[in-house]
Amino acid sequence: MNFINKIGNTPLVLFPLNLNGNRFYLKLENQNPTLSLKDRGALSIIQELEKKYGDELVKKEIIESSSGNMAISLAMICWIKGYNFTAIMDHHSSIIKKLEIESYAGKIDIVDSSKLKENQVGTVERQNYARMLVEEGNGKVVFCDQLNNKANFLANTVLGKEIWEQADGKLDYLFGPIGSGASLGGAAKFLSGKKEKIKIIASEPVGSVIFGRKAEPYYQSGSGMPSKETIGNNLKRAKNIFEKMIVWLFQILMHLQQQFS
Ligand SMILES: Cc1ncc(COP(=O)(O)O)c(C=O)c1O
Repeated sequence: MNFINKIGNTPLVLFPLNLNGNRFYLKLENQNPTLSLKDRGALSIIQELEKKYGDELVKKEIIESSSGNMAISLAMICWIKGYNFTAIMDHHSSIIKKLEIESYAGKIDIVDSSKLKENQVGTVERQNYARMLVEEGNGKVVFCDQLNNKANFLANTVLGKEIWEQADGKLDYLFGPIGSGASLGGAAKFLSGKKEKIKIIASEPVGSVIFGRKAEPYYQSGSGMPSKETIGNNLKRAKNIFEKMIVWLFQILMHLQQQFS
């Protein structure tokens, strides 16, 4: 049994919060091997690459643009399977996340974000840089592209299935953060086939433009999308499924904080 076999099947626990008699559950995705739900999509992306390249994959450099969590997941899986991995990161990347990637023998390439302000995320610069590396790599560089890669989206239909089964089908709302759209969108895809009235509430940071709000600089780079970025295929897939409801993550956290000090 290695880390890879421990991805998914995370617990769903009742949270001690009573909102007008409604029950509130948390899906503990931090119990995946690298402590985030990104392990699900990362495994699926690597498995698709294995199908495409077979034994040739060990000779390639697998790259991904990431604020941290997806890169940590990919680094862990590549380390176990013996593949080369480089994370494309920016000036927002935390030192702890970089150290985690390196602990799985992943390499780190920081993009030039000298033209960005401290509170502007470098997602666009990272994506462009990754595409340039592929173009210049003579077939040796493989870009995971979590924003567009369908394997990332489909892996998270299993997240929806787990939630549905653990909740015994008694589910009215699903709340979650949204970045590439793969996690919440994938889960929503499964749930939408089960019960039409489940409402999906996606949260993005203030300043992100996924749901058409005003663009502003923001610090949080895991979820959300800055104004210059083109909408990825996984966000399109997610948006096709979601009802248009938005709650700021900030507001949810504030509410919980007030309840529980
Ligand atoms: C811990 C965590 N949760 C959720 C998300 C958003 O997921 P997605 O990119 O699948 O929309 C991210 C994005 O990086 C993340 O790191």
